[in-house]
Amino acid sequence: MTVSQEKIRTKLEELPRFKLSHLNTPLEPLDRLQQALKDEGVDVPNRMLVKRDDVTGLAFGGNKGRHFEFEIAHILEGGFDTVININHYHSNQARFIAAGCAKAGLKYHIVSHDNLDAPLTGNLLLCKLMGAEIHRTPNEYARQVAEKIFKEETEAGNKPYILPDDPFSDIMGMIGFLETGIELEQQLEDAGVEGPVRFWGLTGRSIAGLRLYAKNRGLDWRATACQYSPGKVEDFQNVTANRSKQVAEMFDLEVSLDTDDLQVLEDYRGPAYGEPDDRVIEAIQMVGKAEGLILDPNYTGKAMSGLIGELRAGRVAADETICFIHSGGLPQLFAHADKFVD
Ligand SMILES: Cc1ncc(COP(=O)(O)O)c(C=O)c1O
Repeated sequence: MTVSQEKIRTKLEELPRFKLSHLNTPLEPLDRLQQALKDEGVDVPNRMLVKRDDVTGLAFGGNKGRHFEFEIAHILEGGFDTVININHYHSNQARFIAAGCAKAGLKYHIVSHDNLDAPLTGNLLLCKLMGAEIHRTPNEYARQVAEKIFKEETEAGNKPYILPDDPFSDIMGMIGFLETGIELEQQLEDAGVEGPVRFWGLTGRSIAGLRLYAKNRGLDWRATACQYSPGKVEDFQNVTANRSKQVAEMFDLEVSLDTDDLQVLEDYRGPAYGEPDDRVIEAIQMVGKAEGLILDPNYTGKAMSGLIGELRAGRVAADETICFIHSGGLPQLFAHADKFVD
């Protein structure tokens, strides 16, 4: 038994939605990257493709354009007029909420809690341009600051919403990527792809949503998720399995994810969140030169260094088509410009 696309589509249509993205995003070949690896003597897989979720449009694009179409609608439905978010200096999520709030006419506060002396550039600069009020605060006070803003906004007669407190924000990313599954099924067929497909991306909701889609559709789509920050693999697997249960219930799907449904790679996460190692810098340069495709040092560069590393180590099956998920994150590249100076 498999779940029909129609059923998933109907459930998606029932959810409130606030348009933020240009969809469908393209699926493109990575032929020149494949050739560059072949020239090194690497055994390359059947085919290499990239899903261009970096070109969703709004505010420099990215996978989160898909996620926050549901989140912004959910916030509007709740009658909130002010959003309070807590996140990192490097956060792409913070940028997307800023864009969504600007478009929806919501007031937005971002409590940015690390790299306090780092310049106003990348995502944080874009947040500011899109009207966010930025509160740079040490991590240990972030919660307190958010609560203080909540109190002040309430006293001013507004209806604030602390984003990390709402469990919906944990599952809407997976929901957004059920739709990506529908898109990709057609695009892969149009591209004449046969045999197993391996999606390659990062630990998170997006790749999990794709795997959940595939499992329910009975497709031979495998998934590798590279870590981008420290954390136990089992924790990610357990959280993901739990979230997938909630989504499966909501969408009346037949199965949810088991902890081993995603291959998780720890080896490419670099020294810390927001810090790339030399392999990431090399991967970004290699893909830029081969394909004219830009990756970032915090997320997609780490995923690509994982793909190149695993190919070089001969650990990717030859009969698979690799589909790299380019999830965006580009503005933060500029915060790392010094790492590319010769
Ligand atoms: C550019 C980018 N790609 C991937 C991820 C992984 O997480 P998710 O799939 O939940 O967005 C993130 C998380 O912040 C991200 O910013």
